Amino acid sequence: MNSPNLGKIIYTEEQIQQRLAEIAVTINLDYQSQELVIICILKGSFYFVADLTRHLTMPVIIDFLSIGVTRDESGKTAVQFKKDLDVNIEGRHVLLVEDIIGTGFTLGYICQRLEESRPASLKICTLLDNPAERLLPINIDYKCFTMPDMFVVGYGLDYRQHFRNLPYIAEYRR
Ligand code: IMP
Ligand code: MG
Repeated sequence: MNSPNLGKIIYTEEQIQQRLAEIAVTINLDYQSQELVIICILKGSFYFVADLTRHLTMPVIIDFLSIGVTRDESGKTAVQFKKDLDVNIEGRHVLLVEDIIGTGFTLGYICQRLEESRPASLKICTLLDNPAERLLPINIDYKCFTMPDMFVVGYGLDYRQHFRNLPYIAEYRR
């Protein structure tokens, strides 16, 4: 893909796949044969969930969640679920899978909402962690990479809906 704004590759396809297989080993050990509900946060996490879940050995249920930001007439913004879960997570072990954690506001909101459904457990798995951006503390249970503070695209991550299908993660100069 050619774009003058696309910078250097930060994580190659091989690095992503290798790291993902490593965290899958840990997840398999932690949950053993307990059923696990995997929640894919749309849209950025779809490749990550697709690749990660193929390494998991416990019984897995996959569901999707989409959140959106709305703005009212006064300009006040609010986060809400654009697509809610199909599965009832009450009493179930849940693993939330995110593409990238920046400020932590997105995940903070999602966790708060999901806790209301009283899951047996709720853990967080992220492909990328950008700790320099963090404003809300988030306890990350599984992470592939702690990234440098930059904007990246590829492997699900977008800039204005583009570049999600790059098999690697690259810097993008906005
Ligand atoms: P947070 O609420 O600041 O943690 O933002 C997380 C969300 O912002 C992610 O789910 C992404 O959709 C988006 N995001 C944050 N950083 C990047 C980036 O470097 N590239 C693409 N999307 C990003
Ligand atoms: Mg996202």
